[in-house]
Amino acid sequence: MTELIYMTDSYQQELTARVVSCIKKANGWEIILDKTIFYPQGGGQPSDKGTIKGKHGTATVKHVRMLGDDVIHECSLEGTIESEEVVECTIDWILRFYNMRVHSAGHVVHEAVRLVAPYLEPIKGEHGKSAYIEYKGSLTNDKIPLIEGQANDLIRQNLSLKTEFVTIDELKNRASYVPEHLPKHKPLRILAIGEYPPIPDGGTQVKTAGEIGEVTISSIKNTDDHVRVYYEVASDASFQKNEEDEGISAPQFIGLLLDAQRGAKEIIQSSDESVDMLRLHVLGPKSELGRLTKQIRQVPEDDRGNVGVVVNEVKQSIESALQKRSSVLRPTSYVHNDWLDVTAPGIRPLEGHLHIVSQAISEITRIFERIGFTRVRHPEVDWDWYAFESLNMPPHHPARDEWETFFIEYPGSPRHSRAGGNPSKKENWIPDRVGDDKYKQIVLTPHTSNGQVREMEKGKLPIRMINIAKCYRRQEDVSHTAMFHQFEGLFIDKNVSIGNLKGVMDFFFKQYYGPDRVSRIRPFHFQFTEPSFEVDVSCGVCHGKGCKLCKEGWLELGGAGMVHPNVLKAGGIDPNVYNGFAFGWGIERVAMMKVKGVDDNRQVYNNDVRFLEQF
Ligand code: FA5
Repeated sequence: MTELIYMTDSYQQELTARVVSCIKKANGWEIILDKTIFYPQGGGQPSDKGTIKGKHGTATVKHVRMLGDDVIHECSLEGTIESEEVVECTIDWILRFYNMRVHSAGHVVHEAVRLVAPYLEPIKGEHGKSAYIEYKGSLTNDKIPLIEGQANDLIRQNLSLKTEFVTIDELKNRASYVPEHLPKHKPLRILAIGEYPPIPDGGTQVKTAGEIGEVTISSIKNTDDHVRVYYEVASDASFQKNEEDEGISAPQFIGLLLDAQRGAKEIIQSSDESVDMLRLHVLGPKSELGRLTKQIRQVPEDDRGNVGVVVNEVKQSIESALQKRSSVLRPTSYVHNDWLDVTAPGIRPLEGHLHIVSQAISEITRIFERIGFTRVRHPEVDWDWYAFESLNMPPHHPARDEWETFFIEYPGSPRHSRAGGNPSKKENWIPDRVGDDKYKQIVLTPHTSNGQVREMEKGKLPIRMINIAKCYRRQEDVSHTAMFHQFEGLFIDKNVSIGNLKGVMDFFFKQYYGPDRVSRIRPFHFQFTEPSFEVDVSCGVCHGKGCKLCKEGWLELGGAGMVHPNVLKAGGIDPNVYNGFAFGWGIERVAMMKVKGVDDNRQVYNNDVRFLEQF
């Protein structure tokens, strides 16, 4: 009697066994061992193949069958193998794992059929090349997608496939169906998928449904009162590996995902297939992405969650590329039964639009241009002299703390020198102001006010500038992002008054928010303006009366003031002749006040199209 090792462990690939007999037959050799890992054909599952290695010979196992209590290994033999000899057995794991997947898929498909057509009576299953499950009853072809959907649902849930040995009475008690002819020579074993009722089973099985991969229901064939549900599993190499296979690191996997994304997009761009066919090619189970998705098991368990997120993002980005394509794709050829309705309305292409911040920048620019301001650009990475010192904020002035600044290291910067740099060595990229005491550090501009003195240095008066740029601060909360935009107005002329500042503000608010809006200024403090103001706009909901949105009738927008004489001097302008005003407001805040209902400004940069497409 051969001990059936595969019944307790389907994943054992090697075994040391004792030869009971090795007999020459007409077509080769038949070996019986005291125990075996080779599955003998039965229950619809094909037998294993592999090798049995002895001291003086190697047998290649071609077929395995059950004879009474013994398992017969039908082999070809090179050299000799003797009775009682100890041999090393190795199964063809690739074949075994594939057979296991097909067999387990049969059970999963059966559960799916039971959900879709519970009235069908199971007869038998074939789990070889042409795999099917046969039932008494009939089933229409329109059930294919339902069964396939249910089966793949069970697979996606990655339910466990657990086997246990039971007595015949227990089997009759617990199993969802009891076959007429129970095997007499094998232990009675039942298999349960997740919490579904168990089924008698003596084959080899995977441990989790996820290992099966995507199942396709290839056809449903009715004959007399029997129906066969044919199914297939991917013969993909990724499934011919077991859990001990070499792993793949998360960064490597993400690299492969991005390659697959690039490849898919190239196919979408260049192919003239229908979108449905394209979708199958780039997202289907046999696509590069489908293949990779199945390999996610090879990523270390702790990283799988994060990698899963990337998988979904890649899928979404391919899907949106497909959708864009669907709007421009035209059929290139028609077969005789295609019918074209030339009177049908055309397909409107998907239209993108500018980001909400870009829209606001254009609108703000246009409004200020109408009253003689010109949009200018100044560096977004600048000397701290322009961002602070020239604005009347000496190096250690406490006011500088309000602008939580990112500093840039460069050869010669104080931090770089501490790290061993050589401040006297000027390198090619360094502006030639290195070494000049005035210019000490380079910063990511924390506000657009760095443009004030830079504009004055141009030496052209009067000034009516609107400087719009990115700003950076070490901040992140509902109303602050590390990168944001400001627009800075600077008006320098002779005899400029606070009344002029108020007039410009009112003009802007009425143009941008609507004719019923007005501005208000409150005293404040900035080092670079004197007097300084905080600017508010009247609330669009209650018009200054006070409501839930604004509390007191006003919404705070940003700072403004009359340019400080020291700033004019820093820009080479005589404060006794010229004066002016400046204001600096956040684009995101200004734009969000217009749209209402946005309670977290970070959404502007989350790049979620569901948010962005609303504006
Ligand atoms: C300034 O930056 C001054 N330079 C404004 C100014 C210019 C005053 C000219 C006087 C004359 P403040 O730090 O308050 O001021 O910023 C102005 C506006 O920028 C804020 O009201 C806000 O709308 C926006 N802002 C500031 N930090 C952030 C951030 N981290 N994220 C988004 N918006 C921000």
